[in-house]
Amino acid sequence: MRRKWVGGNWKLNGSRAMASALAGAIVDADIGSTVDVALFPPFPYLREVCAACAGSRIVVGGQDSSQHEAGAFTGEVSAAMLRDVGCATVLAGHSERRQFHQESNELVAAKVAQALAHGLTPVLCVGETLEQHEAGATAAVVGNQLAAVMERCGIAAFGHIVIAYEPVWAIGTGRCATPQQAQDVHALLRSQLARDDATIAGSTRIVYGGSVKPGNAAELFAEADIDGGLIGGAALQATDFVSICAAAG
Ligand code: PGA
Repeated sequence: MRRKWVGGNWKLNGSRAMASALAGAIVDADIGSTVDVALFPPFPYLREVCAACAGSRIVVGGQDSSQHEAGAFTGEVSAAMLRDVGCATVLAGHSERRQFHQESNELVAAKVAQALAHGLTPVLCVGETLEQHEAGATAAVVGNQLAAVMERCGIAAFGHIVIAYEPVWAIGTGRCATPQQAQDVHALLRSQLARDDATIAGSTRIVYGGSVKPGNAAELFAEADIDGGLIGGAALQATDFVSICAAAG
């Protein structure tokens, strides 16, 4: 039985005060005992959120990290730095990074490898655009996104990776995938892992992201291969995020 996982991706939102208050309210709700919960604030607020989550079961992560160890890479944040400030996890290949920063499947795989090397749990985001969805290319697109990481990191790495299926057409649009649509893609991803190792495939958490709200979370999480969610907009309201976590627990 896979324990459910829920992440809150705050994206480019908030302030120091808001980060402390939001993390504090989520910690106070005491949701961490039945579900694994992770918060992904903007980099400058990691310390505040780590401080608020200290002593709780909630872990904190970066929204991105560099494929490089260190050096002349202005603007980058390394996996080692994230560890150093108290992070346990990091997003890799979010569609907004792939779309607005031209992150390729190979670059995302390199970031996952670097995060793993520093003991962070990478949350590998995959998902197709609306155009790809309408062209019937979903399976090929997400299959290639996953294959790049399997090739680079090996199947054993998926004992330490969370996969987030986030159809780009569902992110921030209010147009959530149906539970069946998401389930079908999750099952496909799991079978791709299973071709290399069925045991690891059976234990890897595959979570869904894209317009998850308190009102649709339970039906999504009830699907056999949906192991929780990566939450954007609804993660900015403590009550909404807590009720989504409760739906997973
Ligand atoms: P959303 O974002 O919940 O606002 O659709 C999800 C995500 O981008 O992780």
